[in-house]
Amino acid sequence: MRAEPQSGRARWRSGKAVAGMSALALGAAALGVAVPAYAAEGCEVEYTVVNEWNSGFTANVSVTNLGDPVDGWELEWDFPGDQQVTNGWNADLSQSGQHVTASGSGWNGSIGTDGTAEFGFNGSGGGDAPGEFSLNGVTCDGGTGDPDPDPEPTPDPTEDPDPDPDPDPEPGERVDNPYEGADLYVNPVWSEKAADEPGGDAIADEPTALWLDRIGAIEGNDSPTTGDMGLRDHLDEAVAQAGDRPVNIQVVVYNLPGRDCAALASNGELGQEEIGRYKTEYIDVIADIMDDEEYSDLRISTIIEPDSLPNLVTNVGSRDTATENCDTMLENGNYVEGVAYALSELGDIPNVYNYVDAGHHGWIGWDTNLGPSVEVFMEAATTGGATVDDVHGFAVNTANYSALTEPHFDVDDTVNGQQVRQSDWVDWNQYVDEQTFAQALRQEAVSQGFNSDIGMLIDTSRNGWGGPERPTEPSSSNDLNTFIEDSRVDRRFNPGNWCNQAGAGLGERPTVAPASGIDAYSWIKPPGESDGSSELIDNDEGKGFDEMCDPDYEGNVRNGNSPSGALPNAPIAGHWFSAQFQELLANAHPSV
Ligand code: BGC
Repeated sequence: MRAEPQSGRARWRSGKAVAGMSALALGAAALGVAVPAYAAEGCEVEYTVVNEWNSGFTANVSVTNLGDPVDGWELEWDFPGDQQVTNGWNADLSQSGQHVTASGSGWNGSIGTDGTAEFGFNGSGGGDAPGEFSLNGVTCDGGTGDPDPDPEPTPDPTEDPDPDPDPDPEPGERVDNPYEGADLYVNPVWSEKAADEPGGDAIADEPTALWLDRIGAIEGNDSPTTGDMGLRDHLDEAVAQAGDRPVNIQVVVYNLPGRDCAALASNGELGQEEIGRYKTEYIDVIADIMDDEEYSDLRISTIIEPDSLPNLVTNVGSRDTATENCDTMLENGNYVEGVAYALSELGDIPNVYNYVDAGHHGWIGWDTNLGPSVEVFMEAATTGGATVDDVHGFAVNTANYSALTEPHFDVDDTVNGQQVRQSDWVDWNQYVDEQTFAQALRQEAVSQGFNSDIGMLIDTSRNGWGGPERPTEPSSSNDLNTFIEDSRVDRRFNPGNWCNQAGAGLGERPTVAPASGIDAYSWIKPPGESDGSSELIDNDEGKGFDEMCDPDYEGNVRNGNSPSGALPNAPIAGHWFSAQFQELLANAHPSV
């Protein structure tokens, strides 16, 4: 069983254009944009068509400011033909005839000297690149008009030093995006279960991640996720699946001491203080296997410890969401120490690409959570032997249900004079979807010192929200809450709900480099594996019963005291849940 089509995407990349022509420093004041008087001005634009289909295309645009810092920017261009912007992200785009204006706002609103702002859009018509761009009225030609331009400008930490790296790196050298130019590993254990379900054949060849959710899973102990194949067997199978291109196998590292401190459904086998066992019986063993010469041609993407570090921000201390277990894990430092150890040991292996789990927008999308979460990620990335070079990127929405995009509204929209952010559903969050959240988190991480070429993964296995309940157009209501309720595709009772959500569907199929800063949409949570039992079920895996998985539960402060929205009759976390698989298939978006 091989994963074929999803890996072709990256090869459609085309039409890359770096704009540049005559240099002249022109005043930007005419546009009403605030820039320092007598500012040195200049810019460079990279316009990349990352995808093209019959009637449309997706373009990513990266604008580098070579002059003095700008606070507020407008990038303008003329399309060469009848292209029309249909929707965009990370910038406000407007079009009149062939003329397009993109302006940055919010976190993407200012660009420092040699800094870069990135945004993207979908368009109709062909993907031919525009010939010329101007930033705040200044033609982007790669110069500044500065009479004494610095011949060797100091590199900017926020700028990708090598945005288009050699796809065939030297042995031992990591590629920029390990999903690009690779086939993704199809886990035969999951595949077989999916194929056994009615209609499951249609997706059984999709690549899903392998969860090492306990020490025994490394050797293969008939756990539901790894089956009777141990890590070595899966790596051998990945080698066997390789055709002309390298295989990327995705492995979730998930066994911290005191695991899942804000919930009970995925508590694990290691007690809160068992950091020693985590290191020697778990990480060391995994690292030893992955480091085997036999596997050196694989690309191994690890997703490190879902949900752990964000819990140290939102579920501790004086917050009313705090839990005793998360307080303990913050105090004893074992989450940070464990993640740091995993990063440094696995990061020593040249073909391992570590992605640190970073929650999802409905959890850390508020400014009070986002910056502080990245600070904790940085702490983990600089503790023990770990360095930022051990972090290849971050994964969001792992095993969650947050919508990839909300097609009928943006966070900056207003309804009858009221901001979308004020609605009960959005509740002042800065984001309404995972894509803009992932891109912003990436930017925040880079600004706090992570490498500028980090990439993001978004788990799209269960955030499709298709089926008959999916709104097909924006509501016409003038009442903000009614508008949002009737327009949003995420049909949960509350974005804090996470267990076996009724009405959810499969999301975007795994896709390589789908948008700026995103390495891949990936199926990290294997569809059909439960999030937790809907009632207490005795087990020897350390899993508890969490009321959030009980369909009759009316909620708590972490989900706005809303109904749990969970499906009934669920088995314990990680076990096969046929009814959920059926529902995910039926509500898939895009449909299967
Ligand atoms: C469970 C794990 C399982 C994983 C993937 C988690 O919720 O706790 O045991 O491997 O989901 O299904």
